Amino acid sequence: MPAYDKERLFPPRVWRAVELTRKHGFPLACIPEVGRLLELCSGLRGMERLCELGTAYGVGAAWIESGMNRGATLFTVELDAGRAGAARNLFADNIAVEVATGDWSLALQRGPFDLLFSDGGPKRQPGDPEKLLPLLRPGGVLVLDDYTPGYGEDVSRQIWLENPAYRAVEVMLTSSSSAIVATRR
Ligand SMILES: C[S@@+](CC[C@H](N)C(=O)[O-])C[C@H]1O[C@@H](n2cnc3c(N)ncnc32)[C@H](O)[C@@H]1O
Repeated sequence: MPAYDKERLFPPRVWRAVELTRKHGFPLACIPEVGRLLELCSGLRGMERLCELGTAYGVGAAWIESGMNRGATLFTVELDAGRAGAARNLFADNIAVEVATGDWSLALQRGPFDLLFSDGGPKRQPGDPEKLLPLLRPGGVLVLDDYTPGYGEDVSRQIWLENPAYRAVEVMLTSSSSAIVATRR
């Protein structure tokens, strides 16, 4: 990618996280369109306590950080100790971002949150929406990526779109990728 594109499209920390991700050959970092959505959501009025489940090398976290309001905090948790350590180094100069090592359920002790990005936690199985409820304040926003538009009535999206505890919508991000955005009622 030409340098001018990189500088225009990616906040500096996002680009450093992308480079870290590439260095480790990790294929599952969130795409820039998801990053933009996270950045937008994290800057909404009232977003104070933000959370990500599944940090990997920090791409999603860096997008969230780039949109965060003054005084807001991000708690992000990663099961893999190597990835968590690398991400912790990446955010070492920002005390508003805490990278924890462990299972997503660690976040239960820290919630509820105004924004939740579940990228390595409950997401696709029946019962997962209920597991995430304690992590979200009423009116809080949940982002779930990596859906395939037009895939039909698969369980992984119906559990959100038909759940009475949430208001949820599927939004197209690219021609081949969509996300679920939900709020807790
Ligand atoms: C899709 S990747 C996350 C990508 C990252 N959010 C980003 O934007 O670059 C999923 C991550 O979740 C982590 N993970 C898997 N199971 C987990 C669990 N039970 N608790 C916390 N993290 C988990 C994996 O190790 C992996 O790094």
